[in-house]
Parts: sequence; C-alpha cells; structure tokens
Amino acid sequence: MWSSRIAFIAAATGSAVGLGNIWRFPYITSENGGGAFVLIYLACIALVGLPIMFAEIVIGRRGRMSPINSIRELTTASGASHKWAIIGVMGIVAGFMILSFYSVVAGWTLHYAFHYFQELIGTGASITDPGATFNSLLGNVGELTFWHGLFMVMTMGVVGLGVEKGLERAVSVLMPVLLILLLILLGYGMNTGYFHEAVGFLFKPDWSQVSGSMFVTALGQAFFTLSLGMCAIMTYGAYLPSDVNIPRVGVTVAGADTFVAIVAGLAIFPIIIANNIDPGSGGAGLIFTSLPLAFAEMPFGIFYGMIFFILLSVAAWTSSISLMEPATAYIVEATNLSRKVAALLVAGLGWLLGLASVFSFNLWSEVKIAGKSPMDAIDYVATQIMLPVGGLLIALFAGWVLSSRITREELGEKMPAWAYEAWLWLTRVVTPLLILVVLGGILNLF
Ligand code: PFF
Repeated sequence: MWSSRIAFIAAATGSAVGLGNIWRFPYITSENGGGAFVLIYLACIALVGLPIMFAEIVIGRRGRMSPINSIRELTTASGASHKWAIIGVMGIVAGFMILSFYSVVAGWTLHYAFHYFQELIGTGASITDPGATFNSLLGNVGELTFWHGLFMVMTMGVVGLGVEKGLERAVSVLMPVLLILLLILLGYGMNTGYFHEAVGFLFKPDWSQVSGSMFVTALGQAFFTLSLGMCAIMTYGAYLPSDVNIPRVGVTVAGADTFVAIVAGLAIFPIIIANNIDPGSGGAGLIFTSLPLAFAEMPFGIFYGMIFFILLSVAAWTSSISLMEPATAYIVEATNLSRKVAALLVAGLGWLLGLASVFSFNLWSEVKIAGKSPMDAIDYVATQIMLPVGGLLIALFAGWVLSSRITREELGEKMPAWAYEAWLWLTRVVTPLLILVVLGGILNLF
C-alpha cells in the first residue's frame, strides 16, 4: 500500500512525467507544425486520457493484484469472460517495447549530464556546435550502448529490490526541483525576445496543416505521456488505499503532467526560434541540440546544464520503473522466479531489444521498416497502436463489464452526478469511438 494519497500522486506523477513531456512532446509538436497539433493533443488528454486514467485506477484498486490477475478477478466477479485479461498481456508487451527505446534516450540524458559534469570540473571540452556533438554521440555505438546499459541497470535495481520507499521520497523532492528548473528555463526563454513567437507556434492553430496522421500521433502521445493503455497506472492503483478519492488524484496527476509538457514547450521553443533553428525541424535530437545553446549562454550555464540533465534522467528513471514493473510483477506471479531474477530477465531482454534502437543511428541507419528506422518502428507500434488499443479495451471493460455498483462506489460517490454521468458515457461510447476512428484512420478502414 502507498502510505498516503500524496505517495500515490508522487508515484503516478513520477511515472507520467518523464521523457514523454520534455523530450517527446517538444519534438513531435515541432514535427507536426505546432498549434493545431497541441490543441488536438489537449483534447485527447481530456476526452480520452482522463476517463481512462480513472478507469485504470478503479480496476487496479478493485482487483488489488497485477493487471492480468486483477482483470481476471473482476471478470469472475461480474460473470464475464476471462479473455479480457488479454489487456494485461498486451500491456506487458507494449511496456517492454517502450522500455527498450526509452532506456536508449534516457542514456542520452545520462551522457549529457556526465558531459556537463566533466566540463564543470575542467576535464571536458565545451559544446560549441550542439548538432555536431549530438551526431557524434549517435555515431558512437559503444558510448550509446554503455549509457543505455547503465540506465537499464539503474531501473532494474529499483524494480528488483523493490525500494519503493526510497523512490517515494526521491520523487516527491526531485520532481518539484525539476519543475523549478524548467521554470527558470522558461524565464530564460521569455527573455530571448522570441517568447511571443513561441506562444504563437504552440497555440495558434493552422488548421490547413491538419492530417489524419496528426490525430494518430496526438492520441498516441496522450497515452504515452499519461502512462496509460498498458496497465502501469492500474498496477499503481492496486496499492491505493480505499479511502482515497480517485477523481481527485486522477485530475491532479493528469493536470501536473500536462502542465510540465506545456512549460517544457514554452521554455524550449523560444530558444529554438532565437537561435534560428526552424521550429518545425523536429527530430529526436531536438532538445539535445537546442538546450545546449541556452546553457552555453546563461550565467552558470554549465552547472545548470548538468543539473538539468541529471533531473531529466531522474524523471526518466521514475517512468522506466513503471514500464518495467508490470512485466516483472507478472513473471513473479506466474513462475517461481524471484523478483530479482524476474527483473534481471526483463532488463536483459529490454536491453537487447534496445540495441535495435541504438543501431538505428549507426550500424543499421539504412534499415527501414515501412519507411521508419527500427527505433521509430518500435515506438510507432507500441505507442500509436498498442497503447490506444489497450486503452480502448480498458474503457470498454470499465464502462460495460464492471458492475455499475463498483464504478458508482469508486467514482460516482466521489464526484458530482453530472461528472459521473459524463465519465460513464465517455468510457462507454465517446472514448472508444474516438480511438476507433483514429486507429481506423491508420488502417485505412474509413
Ligand atoms: N509517461 C512516461 C513519459 O511521459 O515519459 C512514459 C511511460 C511510462 C509510458 C510508463 C507508459 C508507461 F506505462
């Protein structure tokens, strides 16, 4: 059990806030032309993300086990088919796939933290051409593999030892510090003289740019950033004390996550525009090639850069723990392996699959799967297909299969009647339809 409401909020926010907010959100927003994409993304958070967040927490708290078994338990209670447990199986696979490339990108942040540390103590060269620095990192298989491995070991350490207590404490201190750092960066961005342009890029929609793939990307990002669709939040919900108000904590976590993404965007885009980088140029390297420009200019920028990348690594760490947890918990329940061995297994396989992402930038730079690099292909299948499909099934399960007595007790009694009705109809009809229409778009069914 989490020791309190705050502990759950800290852990769930730790899971939600991560590379998705500070690395992925700015770069895909950039690739999708800004304003219109951001508004579609915010709509996905409100209409799809929030209802599913509530649903996952309810299922977790009523099932009180790892996702597969929680769902199985609830289907027995309501006389429904056990096949719904497939939600848990898919979640485990999606989490594993995301973990593989997440760890590679987290490795980049570790590398940058170390780079600034070396510069600070005078043993490293300064970054004068961030683009060249980033490209040389991507070309260095050994370096990438090492940092990816180190990050995987860090994640395995926490999951294997189950040091949740320490995690709880670390998250509740470090996350606010990361936010303060982002706010300082935002202040810097405001002073570049390009804040206004950045706000325009992020919030002024150019509807002529809208395309079907933009909806798919926005929906996937909503799931990714809130850690939904793969039972991570469900797993955490299983440890939530019974008297905690689910709607309130759900709104808090989703709100905090969205706030961090928007602040990150508002901090990063002025720097991009001020340095004559095309705000639409995107690419997975976006923050690694733009932020060093700011750090090079700011007073105490080297120190600041080091702290920033350390904290970003911590944010990634608290997220990757929740990516590894469902698979590990399931192995422990289903076999007689110990938690440590299970974590080692998941981390080892995740590291191996992660090599496909490492090689995407060098040895395998020519390899394309349906026009995408191996890393983008894994990201695409997991984030834009598997998470939404998982979310769709979770919504249907919560809306139609769970007895309304349960949802009324868990949610209905804790929120105004209209809000509960709205949740019920969103999960039953609107959310599944939205997901189907967007996914149907990918498969060209419509
Ligand atoms: N929400 C995390 C982020 O935004 O970085 C990534 C993530 C964690 C996705 C856990 C999914 C998940 F289950």
